[in-house]
Amino acid sequence: MKTGPIINQDSINQDKTIVVAISGASGSIYGVRLIKALIDSGCRVLIILSNAGQKVLAHEMGYDPKKSFLIFLEKQGVSLDGTMVPEIFFQDEIAAAPASGSFVHHGMVVVPCSMKTLSAVASGYGDNLITRSCDVSLKEKRCLVLVPRETPFGLIHLENMTRATRAGAVILPPNPSFYTFPATIEDLVDTVVARIMDHLGIVHDLGMRWGS
Ligand SMILES: Cc1cc2nc3c(=O)[nH]c(=O)nc-3n(C[C@H](O)[C@H](O)[C@H](O)COP(=O)(O)O)c2cc1C
Repeated sequence: MKTGPIINQDSINQDKTIVVAISGASGSIYGVRLIKALIDSGCRVLIILSNAGQKVLAHEMGYDPKKSFLIFLEKQGVSLDGTMVPEIFFQDEIAAAPASGSFVHHGMVVVPCSMKTLSAVASGYGDNLITRSCDVSLKEKRCLVLVPRETPFGLIHLENMTRATRAGAVILPPNPSFYTFPATIEDLVDTVVARIMDHLGIVHDLGMRWGS
């Protein structure tokens, strides 16, 4: 049940550009659901896939790297009506727009974020389009959300998260919440996606808010 005034999310979010990177940690579904939520909300979305990210997408979600990622997104229920078609990049496209500070966006998310990509971000090691774009987001003081997936975390992981936080990143682990009684895996995943959307400042109606 929705409460409060009816808000036209499309018109509020339509001038927002968000970069979503999917690295090779488990939990590709979090990245895919975020892309869906951003597109449904009227955002322009740039997607970056790491090589390992594609392998995990294939393993966990049946993505076929020989076919277009857009076709895969449509199969996952992402509606591509022609006006908000996301732009897809691969990790070696180091000259793509997000690699430069002169390309203005309104936030970047690495979801899921592997411990390898986390360590590169924490040390400013921009060896591919994901890690370079993260480095640029931090130096330009833009919102950077990292969704690290590993368990348990070792000392090096924890120190890297502290370092990335000190540099301005938000560490948002994919810890779903249960107080809204999610009934499906998608509902559970969306409890995390909603928090990411909040950090990006994107108006959305994913799930009930406590106290609403
Ligand atoms: C099925 C699968 C699941 C994985 N899950 C994780 C994980 O949850 N966290 C992690 O840090 N690495 C995970 N890895 C290992 C990363 O894919 C590997 O470290 C890779 O080098 C990360 O590269 P990237 O950060 O450039 O995507 C997984 C690998 C596979 C094949």
